[in-house]
Amino acid sequence: MPDPQEVRSMFGRIAGRYDLLNRVLSVGIDKRWRRAAVRKLEPLEGLQVVDVCCGTGDLSLELSAGGAQVLGVDFTPEMLQRTAGKLPRRGDKPLFARGDAMCLPLQSRSADAASIAFGIRNVADRVGGLRELYRIVKPGGKLLVLEFTCPPGPILGRLYRTYFTRILPLIGRTISGDGGAYEYLPRTVLAWPEPEAFQREMESVGFADCGHQRLTRGIACLHWGRVPASEGMPKGGL
Ligand SMILES: C[S@@+](CC[C@H](N)C(=O)[O-])C[C@H]1O[C@@H](n2cnc3c(N)ncnc32)[C@H](O)[C@@H]1O
Repeated sequence: MPDPQEVRSMFGRIAGRYDLLNRVLSVGIDKRWRRAAVRKLEPLEGLQVVDVCCGTGDLSLELSAGGAQVLGVDFTPEMLQRTAGKLPRRGDKPLFARGDAMCLPLQSRSADAASIAFGIRNVADRVGGLRELYRIVKPGGKLLVLEFTCPPGPILGRLYRTYFTRILPLIGRTISGDGGAYEYLPRTVLAWPEPEAFQREMESVGFADCGHQRLTRGIACLHWGRVPASEGMPKGGL
């Protein structure tokens, strides 16, 4: 289980190189994944969206550019600081705040939708984190989760594991100067449940109309669910 203090300190160390590494390690495909998530929430005009584990703000910015009113929340100040240089000069901008995904600084049922991209894998208690996301979304509102997954199939699966456990940590260490962070990434991704199992976890919390779509041959997965219109509190309590 990820230790929150270690996670925060790791992202604090790599914050300066995080965006560059994302582009290099995913050969730019990560941008396409975030756009797929944004499309799933359309129409965005006027929608109040909380982007949890927002990091350096890429998904928050994408949602805001589409017309949503966005609050990005993350517990690593160094990651949040990187958002400042990325804000558009004109038009609506997302707001950013420091906060823990396990205890969001928001009232229950206050957001039209919530998103979490490559974040829930890092949260100490995954189901607890889902419950907290459920708590802040209004009945009828959507949750979107983007996460890395292992591609299905023996050949692609093996190739991916080799890239992930041998090549990626090397590139990560060279660019970021931090060996540990890019060993942590494959370790947590390889331990991540299959999309079907994660979807069941979302359903166990109470999300309805859940579904998922594997992206780029299953390297990533977009999950979605809805807080039932007639309900308010997550199953299993807060
Ligand atoms: C891999 S980054 C993803 C950032 C961004 N969403 C993106 O798509 O690039 C994971 C982020 O989750 C944040 N994080 C991890 N655990 C958290 C928690 N319990 N509460 C808030 N933020 C957390 C980290 O600080 C980091 O910025």
